Amino acid sequence: MANCKRLQLIQLIHLIFSNNRSIFCVLLLLELLNPLHSLLGNPLLSEENNFVGSNQCTNCHKNIFTTQINSGHARTLRKVESIPELLKAIPLQFFDKQNNVKYQIEKSPNKNFVLDLIATKENESNRMHLLWGLGAGRKGVTFVGLTDKGNYGQSRVSWYQKTSGLDVTTGLEKQVEDTYEALADWMSPPQQENCFACHTTQEADLPPIEMNPKNAGVHCERCHGPGEKHIQAMMSDNHQIVNTIKNPGKMKAIEQIYFCGACHGVPAGGTDLQTISKHMGDKQTARFPGQRLVFSRCYTESKGKLQCITCHDPHEDLVQQPRAYDTKCLTCHQAKNPLLQACPISKKDCTTCHMPYEKGFMTHSEFADHWIRILSENNSP
Ligand code: HEC
Ligand code: HEC
Ligand code: HEC
Ligand code: HEC
Ligand code: HEC
Ligand code: HEC
Ligand code: HEC
Repeated sequence: MANCKRLQLIQLIHLIFSNNRSIFCVLLLLELLNPLHSLLGNPLLSEENNFVGSNQCTNCHKNIFTTQINSGHARTLRKVESIPELLKAIPLQFFDKQNNVKYQIEKSPNKNFVLDLIATKENESNRMHLLWGLGAGRKGVTFVGLTDKGNYGQSRVSWYQKTSGLDVTTGLEKQVEDTYEALADWMSPPQQENCFACHTTQEADLPPIEMNPKNAGVHCERCHGPGEKHIQAMMSDNHQIVNTIKNPGKMKAIEQIYFCGACHGVPAGGTDLQTISKHMGDKQTARFPGQRLVFSRCYTESKGKLQCITCHDPHEDLVQQPRAYDTKCLTCHQAKNPLLQACPISKKDCTTCHMPYEKGFMTHSEFADHWIRILSENNSP
């Protein structure tokens, strides 16, 4: 219920800043008074229902499988030897001027590994064997590696698509004392698990060297739950899909926002006006669609019709042509619908003005702001 209260407050803020929209608000408030469906209780995640791997879904869901397996979700965690762009680009070099450290990624002389990251400062040098690349690479790839002494770390340099080269990993721009510190942000086991949590289908808690590539990346069963029971049911004579597999497409809007938001940012906690205004003013939240979308009047005043899948096919790669989103906006905003007036400014490319890109969360990257709203002419809030 805390969440409902929070939403009511967002509504209140909108009410304060707008007038004659109160009918929508009242309707929505009434709807929000219904308790939320249970977000966490998932009867499918019981012990008898096992993960089977997405290959088992191919036969019956061929089109979805073929699209999904090539998507950013599926490729968001790969063994470094399975990143062809990277293998083609080595040897890679980068010089961190601030710390006077030279970085190289090159073939590993150790037969058990494929690539090494080497940091050199003056005459001292240190190396880490690279195991995994996090990120499908639309923006960038950060590595997790292992030293001969058995320490795991997140590489202090990442590969960025925009520059086709290495640069310091976002968040690790700092002074480093020596080449060991220059190599990576060294991780304890809980930190490893946290790092892999949103980039895997299961078993994020295993030591990175033991993780099965099959579980790396966000595959079918991460979103639909284990598939064993469903397949058994589908193969049996009396097949019934009800309660054999989860379909997040059937969730209510707020449930889906929390579901996708487990990885893409859940609406920030706090139920008082001050906390919410603070979050609205905090640009950093623009990296997290789940946190921003709920501020939009499109969300608060559409009676639960605006979900993540209104605009995204969760099995596909991100569509990056603004024109493709126009039809989604216009399903609600059209001249025929007097309460949802058509835009007085333009009939196309809606997202360019109402969901502009924001910078400053990740090096060489920008993110579409999911707080859909009217911005001033120079696109600042
Ligand atoms: C033996 C065939 C078969 C296999 C294998 C299979 N499915 Fe299905 N699945 C079906 C059928 C049939 C339906 C019902 C289709 C329909 O209603 O259009 C279905 C429906 C679904 C739905 C929709 C459920 C709903 O409530 O709307 C999801 C999600 C799904 N399958 C996921 C999976 C996943 C994930 C796998 C792999 C772990 C998988 N399926 C493997 C046959 C199969
Ligand atoms: C288990 C965590 C997880 C869940 C759950 C999840 N995502 Fe993602 N999603 C990711 C990660 C990680 C990426 C980054 C992929 C990459 O490396 O490019 C991503 C990327 C995306 C992208 C951009 C894809 C691209 O081509 O770059 C979209 C759109 C997206 N997710 C939408 C959704 C929606 C909608 C849902 C809910 C139905 C959802 N996600 C649920 C982890 C998740
Ligand atoms: C709470 C979930 C979560 C955790 C934990 C997480 N990520 Fe991500 N990561 C995402 C999502 C969602 C995306 C896609 C959207 C975005 O970039 O914000 C992403 C994107 C990325 C990208 C950019 C991929 C691209 O090209 O778009 C990199 C690199 C990355 N993560 C590395 C890491 C590393 C390294 C760690 C561990 C230190 C980590 N992530 C932990 C959810 C997570
Ligand atoms: C990021 C989360 C996510 C992943 C990963 C994912 N799905 Fe889905 N899937 C969804 C959502 C959300 C819907 C509801 C889509 C809708 O209603 O438009 C859905 C719907 C479906 C459906 C039923 C509707 C339809 O379009 O026929 C099937 C079947 C399905 N998924 C199978 C799969 C299979 C097979 C895989 C792996 C190859 C997979 N999904 C991976 C989130 C996911
Ligand atoms: C599910 C329906 C729905 C969809 C889809 C939708 N909106 Fe809205 N939108 C609304 C409602 C409801 C309102 C508030 C009522 C009003 O404008 O009179 C609103 C308000 C707005 C506003 C005014 C915001 C403000 O702060 O005053 C803008 C701008 C807007 N929408 C743009 C868009 C754009 C751009 C898209 C597509 C990316 C979109 N909407 C998609 C329902 C929707
Ligand atoms: C009204 C339409 C709309 C809705 C609803 C929507 N998105 Fe998006 N999303 C977009 C647009 C537009 C982009 C930017 C596309 C581009 O890069 O050209 C985007 C981009 C993204 C990206 C990539 C981030 C980036 O900019 O690189 C992710 C991840 C994502 N959305 C996840 C989600 C999730 C999760 C939800 C639900 C909480 C959601 N979206 C709801 C329209 C929408
Ligand atoms: C060139 C930038 C731009 C584009 C492109 C654009 N808009 Fe707008 N839109 C604006 C501005 C600026 C306003 C505020 C106008 C005003 O208050 O006079 C606005 C107002 C709105 C409103 C509020 C209308 C009202 O009377 O309350 C909605 C809804 C809206 N736009 C939706 C859309 C949709 C849907 C599209 C795509 C079909 C779109 N916009 C394309 C800049 C744009």
